[in-house]
Amino acid sequence: MDYTITRLTPHTGAEIDGLDLNRGVDDETRVALNRAFADHHVLVIRGQQFTPPQFIAAARIFGDLFQHDKREMHVPGYPEIYYVSNEQAVPGKRYISGETFHTDHSNHPVPPKATMLFPVSLPSYGGDTQYVNMHLAYDELPAETKERIDGRKAIHVYLSKFSPRELRPLSADSAQKVPPPGIHPLVRTHPENGRKALYLNPVRIEGIVGMKDDAALDLVAELMAHAIQTKYEYRHQWRHGDFVIWDNRSVIHKANPDYDMNERRYLYRLMLKGETPV
Ligand SMILES: [Fe+2]
Repeated sequence: MDYTITRLTPHTGAEIDGLDLNRGVDDETRVALNRAFADHHVLVIRGQQFTPPQFIAAARIFGDLFQHDKREMHVPGYPEIYYVSNEQAVPGKRYISGETFHTDHSNHPVPPKATMLFPVSLPSYGGDTQYVNMHLAYDELPAETKERIDGRKAIHVYLSKFSPRELRPLSADSAQKVPPPGIHPLVRTHPENGRKALYLNPVRIEGIVGMKDDAALDLVAELMAHAIQTKYEYRHQWRHGDFVIWDNRSVIHKANPDYDMNERRYLYRLMLKGETPV
């Protein structure tokens, strides 16, 4: 198949042009896309036009669907597809999901390897998604810090009491289905590209095994301050037709509420099953 893969920064993100995923992909292209995903961490596949079932079919090129915790928030008629929208008001304030850096659903013992978005409505400016490369952030840590965190594990819950922001409460039914906390290494090794990465999520990390809360919080804050430097970043400016898939094992991400909240921002969202972080 005739398409191009172009880096978006030297370290994170690649743009793919010339593919219409609704026409399906051959085996060779499927392998190449999955390789590009492992190598570039964020793929921006331009020019797609998806109905909800077509979005699901495109997602399956990269793996099997992972069920969202917040089951009540799905696209009407499609329980598999969650959505991101700035119309989800809480009293007195619009709620912007993902407003600080995080990795998705790390409270699961086997968290999702990937998340995908496809825009339905975009504001006329703003609303970018920022990613930082946790492989590179790990590589460039001082040797002393690498030694200090080697073998450490963090406890990830649905919403940490130390979270910098609130999450919307789950419905009773969804809350019942949330699994026990995920106990994950601070440094994980990517099963496909073989690189080590920091695995951090201040929204969900409730503690670090064997450390007092104050020390654990200080350590997470220190590692996050290092990781979110601009030099590790790819910032995605959304265009209609962008099918974006990112690797939750390689990057953390955040949304930006820097647009006119009278404009609608609405995207379909899917995740893919991953593996136990090691
Ligand atoms: Fe997210």
